[in-house]
Amino acid sequence: MNILLLGSGGREHALAWKMVQSHHCSQLFIAPGNAGTSQYGTNVDLGITDFEAQKKFCVDNKINMVVVGPEEPLVKGVFDFYSADTSLQNIVVVGPSAKAAQLEGSKAFSKKFMQRHHIPTAGYAEFTQDNFEEGKKYIAQHSLPIVLKADGLAAGKGVVICQTCDEALLSFEQMIVHHQFGEAGNKVVIEEFLDGIEVSVFVLTDGEAYQVIGHAKDYKRIGEGDTGPNTGGMGCVSPVPFMDDGFMKKVEERIIRPTVNGLKQEGLVYHGFIFFGLMNVKGEPWVIEYNCRMGDPETEVVIPRLQTDLVALFAAMDNGTLADTNISFDERSCATIVAVSGGYPGEYKKNIAITLPDNIHTNDSFIFHAGTKQTEQAIVTNGGRVLAVSSFGNNIADAVDRSKEILEQIHFEGMYYRKDIGYEFGA
Ligand code: AMP
Ligand code: GLY
Repeated sequence: MNILLLGSGGREHALAWKMVQSHHCSQLFIAPGNAGTSQYGTNVDLGITDFEAQKKFCVDNKINMVVVGPEEPLVKGVFDFYSADTSLQNIVVVGPSAKAAQLEGSKAFSKKFMQRHHIPTAGYAEFTQDNFEEGKKYIAQHSLPIVLKADGLAAGKGVVICQTCDEALLSFEQMIVHHQFGEAGNKVVIEEFLDGIEVSVFVLTDGEAYQVIGHAKDYKRIGEGDTGPNTGGMGCVSPVPFMDDGFMKKVEERIIRPTVNGLKQEGLVYHGFIFFGLMNVKGEPWVIEYNCRMGDPETEVVIPRLQTDLVALFAAMDNGTLADTNISFDERSCATIVAVSGGYPGEYKKNIAITLPDNIHTNDSFIFHAGTKQTEQAIVTNGGRVLAVSSFGNNIADAVDRSKEILEQIHFEGMYYRKDIGYEFGA
């Protein structure tokens, strides 16, 4: 099978690394990829939302499968484009239709979907310019903290947790009146704060059957001790100690099964990953958000732990045999730590040379590239999150220590990483 993978992050490096291990994978192309993905396939200069250019590439290169890493092409209709075009119809696209991708593309859509299917989520209301005054009254009588969310895609920045009413009113005005998040904030979801521990659960579905392919805990804040601004994710661990059979049973019965059934009932075509962002509130799972893709850096721990052939899983998703596949996991702990550019998640410099160890002398650690680029002279930084170092260990602390050992051998000017990933689990 010839495969085209869309995206350029650590997630895509991990997916590329995994897919080339499959005997079903003949040729792998990554658009646009990074310095890491080029070790496993051919990076091609195609825009992730330039579907016309992808069409020509897919036809010329006899592509059989397109795996979509990030949400933007999904929300913009990559699945629909391929299924509507006679020359692309036979290509397996791993990712949902645009309508179904609204689970991530619109917070208001996902909240209404959860209400219709009685999936546990925080109580909420939605407001626009038209009922702005009503929104202010809603905020004034709401309990604290209070959570404000821009409805649309805002590159992970559209959520504000406010501790005071004044702060919430200011944020609300910033979003609706001053367009802080552009069009994404024309509608704002205001919801209750859920107090608990977050965990991300990943499922592959064909719209009817599903398989849980892993879970992870992400560390989103830039600073140690979970302080400072939110980032795309600074590190992850898997498995998470509280994710025992009892908790997972609740997640499957109350959340995953009703979601997949709901998609089917509503005719929302879904052949791809669902990322459930959950909060464990005193042992009960609640949904914070859906994403229509894998997480980053969650993929960098979930994919190494997944022993099943990923390309075979995608094929099973396509041919209706997903329910019959066996999924197996490496039972060891896996941790990833992300090294970022100085200044991230604010302004940062690019094109800084990266020194990498020649050989990491172990099969239990992996350097997944994210914002990197190969130039003639060197591998240089090309983004905020530069690379993620994942390691297996006998427990979380052991896995984190191994990643830290590798990180000590990596250098670039301004490099920063959190040394406390997994802190609440003994690391
Ligand atoms: P989201 O973009 O929806 O994932 O939100 C970003 C982050 O905000 C989440 O990962 C949570 O840490 C936090 N968050 C979102 N909604 C809530 C909520 N209702 N209660 C507590 N924290 C939340
Ligand atoms: N790490 C969170 C995300 O991928 O959205």
